[in-house]
Amino acid sequence: MILLRNLVYVRLGTEDLDEAEHFCTSILGLEMAKRDADNLYLRSNTRIYTLHYLKGKPADQAVGIEVDGAAELSDAANLLEERGITVYRGTREEATARRVHDFIAFSCPSGNRLELVVRPQLSAKRYFPSRDAGITGFNHIGLFTTDPVRDEQFWTSLFNVKVSDRISDIPLMRFTSMHHELALVRGEGPGIQHINHQVETTDDVMRNYYFLRERNVPIVFGPGRHPTSGARFVYFTGPNNMVFEYSCGVDHIADEANHRPRQFAFEPTSFCMWGSRPTGFVKTGD
Ligand SMILES: [Fe+2]
Repeated sequence: MILLRNLVYVRLGTEDLDEAEHFCTSILGLEMAKRDADNLYLRSNTRIYTLHYLKGKPADQAVGIEVDGAAELSDAANLLEERGITVYRGTREEATARRVHDFIAFSCPSGNRLELVVRPQLSAKRYFPSRDAGITGFNHIGLFTTDPVRDEQFWTSLFNVKVSDRISDIPLMRFTSMHHELALVRGEGPGIQHINHQVETTDDVMRNYYFLRERNVPIVFGPGRHPTSGARFVYFTGPNNMVFEYSCGVDHIADEANHRPRQFAFEPTSFCMWGSRPTGFVKTGD
């Protein structure tokens, strides 16, 4: 069993770093940590960065998740290889670029690129956003899956990942007490389906909704409330049509020992209990 501790970063390829910088600093409300010819690093919390745009193809995406240390990283590599998964061991130079001590990379059965990292760097400098969106930090991701049942099995059999709830056969999964760090969403191929940043309050969700609308940022779902996690949310698109989410009030699983995943039907109200329709977000047949 591989113990996952924290979601650390998302890396996205883009041909246009200027567009990414403008969106992240002027619209999304992250702090620019560093920019060079090929890289744009952005902060959302105490980490040195949580979002990394790398000059390249938009399909080049990866998610970084922290494990405890060098021994655990080595054990994880061995376990993955025992299961027939090809493991790439990061070089020192690549680890430096990621601002981690060491890492391994591999793909889930749907082809999503995952990186297990040790000792990701924090910054002693206070997170100071470029716009007051109310962001308290990078929180969770949606991942496309070509087979939710197979991929749920992958996550729950190899890692300390548990299912909090399901909508049809889409699992919302956690490896901390938070309702979900990983949501699988059916798609045609691999990819990051959405990137969530938490904001402080429902007021922030609504302030951001009006801010986005005034600037003609495409809103694909919400404002609304998930009946699963209880979070109030709004989803919108950024560069290369990546979907970003602001939300607040994600439930924590208080009674870990007795929690059982609840089953929700595959219908619009399972995604939003206020009536917003997720037509631009997931295919519901609605
Ligand atoms: Fe979300």
